[in-house]
Amino acid sequence: MTSVPVITVDGPSGAGKGTISHMLADRLGWHLLDSGALYRVTGQACVIEGISWTDHSAVAEIARHLDVKFTLADSGEMLVEYKGVDVSAAMRTEEGGRGASTVATIPAVREALLARQRDFMQPPGLVADGRDMGTVVFHDAPLKFFLTASASERAERRYKQLIAKGESVSLPRLLADIQERDERDSNRAIAPLVPAEDAIVIDSSDTPIAEVFERVLLEVKNRGFI
Ligand code: DC
Repeated sequence: MTSVPVITVDGPSGAGKGTISHMLADRLGWHLLDSGALYRVTGQACVIEGISWTDHSAVAEIARHLDVKFTLADSGEMLVEYKGVDVSAAMRTEEGGRGASTVATIPAVREALLARQRDFMQPPGLVADGRDMGTVVFHDAPLKFFLTASASERAERRYKQLIAKGESVSLPRLLADIQERDERDSNRAIAPLVPAEDAIVIDSSDTPIAEVFERVLLEVKNRGFI
């Protein structure tokens, strides 16, 4: 184990791990890895380069040479550029999520993104958000969380977010998308979405995010990180 501490936060989309990871990284003053963003940029890079998400060797080549830049905008939003092209908005759409989840099933893509993810492990510490942070990428992390919530609750949350942004969406469609993505993420042959054996599992279906964060902070304090 290295001297840089890592806390992993894994779980399905919409379980609140992005929010919790941000809050935790802010509270600790640690770095944050949004590993899903790397898969999302890879999916967008394929769209830009005219490559199909299912063309394994071409997508792996893209992932190996991914020319990506992350910048924190004044608004607090993460600006993501591929070869200087702003892909931040496109990669956050439902279609962007589908592309990410599709390219993420390719073993050579996961392999190509491994070192990039580990590069985020810098002092004083790292909060790593994803699907396989605790099982694969940082498998010897001293503290691991797995956040989950029912598919219907996650669809409902996403629906409210999109409606608030003024987008017209259908709740049944969102639920179907989430179920399809869960199915692909959980059943892929490599690094599937499963809790690490030593992960603390928190179901946020009926728990407000502030309470989930309190629960997470308690564990972080108990382990002596604060
Ligand atoms: O966390 P997210 O919704 O931005 O992730 C998008 C997709 O990327 C997700 O459906 C599966 C893939 N992913 C992955 O396979 N492994 C990770 N560590 C993070 C994301």
